[in-house]
Amino acid sequence: PRKIIIDTDPGQDDAAAIMLALASPELEVLGITAVAGNVPLALTARNARMITEICGRGDIPVYAGADRPLARELVTAEHVHGKTGLDGVDPFEAERPLEPEHAVDFITRTLRQQPEGEVTLCALGPLTNIAMVLERAPDVAARIKEIVLMGGGFFEGGNITPSAEFNIFVDPEAAKQVFGAGVAVTMMPLDVTHKVLTTRVRVERLRANGNRPSLAMADMLEFFERFDEEKYGTDGGPLHDPTVIAWLLDPEMFSGRQCNVEIETGSELTLGATVVDWWKVTGRAENAFVVRDVDADRFFDLFIERVGRL
Ligand code: BDR
Ligand code: CA
Repeated sequence: PRKIIIDTDPGQDDAAAIMLALASPELEVLGITAVAGNVPLALTARNARMITEICGRGDIPVYAGADRPLARELVTAEHVHGKTGLDGVDPFEAERPLEPEHAVDFITRTLRQQPEGEVTLCALGPLTNIAMVLERAPDVAARIKEIVLMGGGFFEGGNITPSAEFNIFVDPEAAKQVFGAGVAVTMMPLDVTHKVLTTRVRVERLRANGNRPSLAMADMLEFFERFDEEKYGTDGGPLHDPTVIAWLLDPEMFSGRQCNVEIETGSELTLGATVVDWWKVTGRAENAFVVRDVDADRFFDLFIERVGRL
């Protein structure tokens, strides 16, 4: 199986991504690293542990990382995810404790221990932990197979400001480092995730699986959806983060192109914007595969079937 580390700030959609990964024999989750984002670090770390236990995978180690962005105050998103970050399920303390090692040390150590080019980093939150790894241990960049991240938006615009998507906006300096590191990056922007809608029919299909993770996910999505439905006027809200995992399982359901992506870190108005040179008008070097489209039915067929296996 393909070895991955999931860096995350759960978040209901992060939880969905973790479930999809843990349900998939094609992937080996070496560890989950928490970062501050949707809610503060203490909650994202607790939530990540909760999800592994809900999936019956309390054996997966969870590490806590950065509690704030590289150079800014933390911005959180309780207005989307609720106070706990996972509103929809009752919070509890998972049996397996948090690992004592810092997430940045765990990622660095794992990249050094595993054969070169074998570990994929799946980034589902602000890119602070990953940027810290690249900054403190530049030698490991060449050992990363690929970074697949949910972040940014181009034709679709932003969701936290008109021009910025939440994960990039929270830590634009970190995003700039990641896109500039010379590592293969695949980006799942809002252009994709806004097509992956948790419609009532899809949530009911998930619930009909009947197992604990499916029921918990359906409950979470019903909470999560309330905010986004109102905001976007759709049946169901976008399910952002599991697109990263689906990309690893079935890239054929997506389409996109290799191009240059730069991150705005200066402007007050467009801070955190992902400037995607889709039409190749700048001549700047290509540094990311930008996904633009997805077959949402195929995505949900995969997601629902896999979570039902847990
Ligand atoms: C991203 O921001 C978070 O709120 C979600 O978990 C997702 O990672 C979407 O903009
Ligand atoms: Ca997230």
